[in-house]
Amino acid sequence: MAKKATEKSPIRAAITGVHGYVPPDVLTNADLARMVDTSDEWIVARTGIKERHILKGRGLGSSHMAAEAVRGLLHKTGAAPREVDLLICATATPDLVFPATATLVGDMTDIRGVGCFDVQAACSGFIHALAVAAQFIETGKYRKIVVVGADKTSSLIDYTDRATCVLFGDGAGAVLLEPSRTHGIIDTLIRADGAGMPYLHLKAGGSRLPSTAETVAKGLHYVHQDGAKVFKFAVARMTEVTRELMRRNRLTGDMVDWLVPHQANLRIIEATAKRIKLPAERAMVTIHKYGNTTTATIPLCLWDYEKKLKAGDRLILVAFGGGFAWGGAYLTWAYDGR
Ligand code: COA
Repeated sequence: MAKKATEKSPIRAAITGVHGYVPPDVLTNADLARMVDTSDEWIVARTGIKERHILKGRGLGSSHMAAEAVRGLLHKTGAAPREVDLLICATATPDLVFPATATLVGDMTDIRGVGCFDVQAACSGFIHALAVAAQFIETGKYRKIVVVGADKTSSLIDYTDRATCVLFGDGAGAVLLEPSRTHGIIDTLIRADGAGMPYLHLKAGGSRLPSTAETVAKGLHYVHQDGAKVFKFAVARMTEVTRELMRRNRLTGDMVDWLVPHQANLRIIEATAKRIKLPAERAMVTIHKYGNTTTATIPLCLWDYEKKLKAGDRLILVAFGGGFAWGGAYLTWAYDGR
């Protein structure tokens, strides 16, 4: 349990609510096996994924799912849209190149006249956004911040490429951050190494190679990934970050109640948990039903496990993704599951 709070305890950013959204359409392994040369056995054995949700409907982007998650979060926590001081959206699949998806979500959820911006750090975007948001709470500048991770990654996937199409799903998850002297984010760590770009990126559609008929014909708007290379780096960096957060905060494996890992591959999650000597059942897992939802994996885990969480539980959040960019956060949970 955390130490007793006093007036001298530092102000921390506590997660005081979480809500998630996944679209209703489900794409199962059996569906994929009818589309490409794959099988349920291969996908489950190599990734742990059984199904994923896909956002369908003309004109619906990541903002649609983010807004659903944020609306649910505000309803659940009783926070009024006008009370929100800042809205940060982590996404790698913004609705538009500009304006920011956060501004669209603000409009859809009635959060107006305050800062709304996006954070782009691929799959580790939610951790980066959380690290940024925590600063505004710790300094006393803001009292209610919404951080939402939302991705329609299906919009970037080539559904004839069996190596990538089985991995990703769509979804969104949002948290409310408020000041607390008892619980909250104790430490964060964010890192990047741009030398990782060749192994996981999208070749066209940005300013370097704008969209043309030729880029579309060549399939340059789809996720390009060297899966084996990414796998190796993901395990190494996620382990490194978790170990560093544990060392800096004098935590041993038995003191960590929950590891909340980015959900890219069950084997990455299990390897990370094993290396920090954490029993597998204390690592949150949702990959079987959602796949890799990019920035939404971590808040969707918190949403799924919310009922099991207790005030004072020690959580380590950790993610790795394109860039390469990665990071982690150590926090104590602020409320008993509901
Ligand atoms: N079904 C059946 N076979 C498949 C397949 C599929 N869906 N996808 C790939 N294969 C095949 C490959 O073609 C290859 O065949 P070959 O040996 O005849 O060439 C074989 O399986 C092994 O491929 P490999 O890429 O070595 O498999 P893997 O065990 O590394 O698993 C990933 C592939 C993508 C699941 C794994 O590398 C991974 O999860 N990487 C990290 C992904 C990630 O974290 N991405 C996001 C970061 S946020």
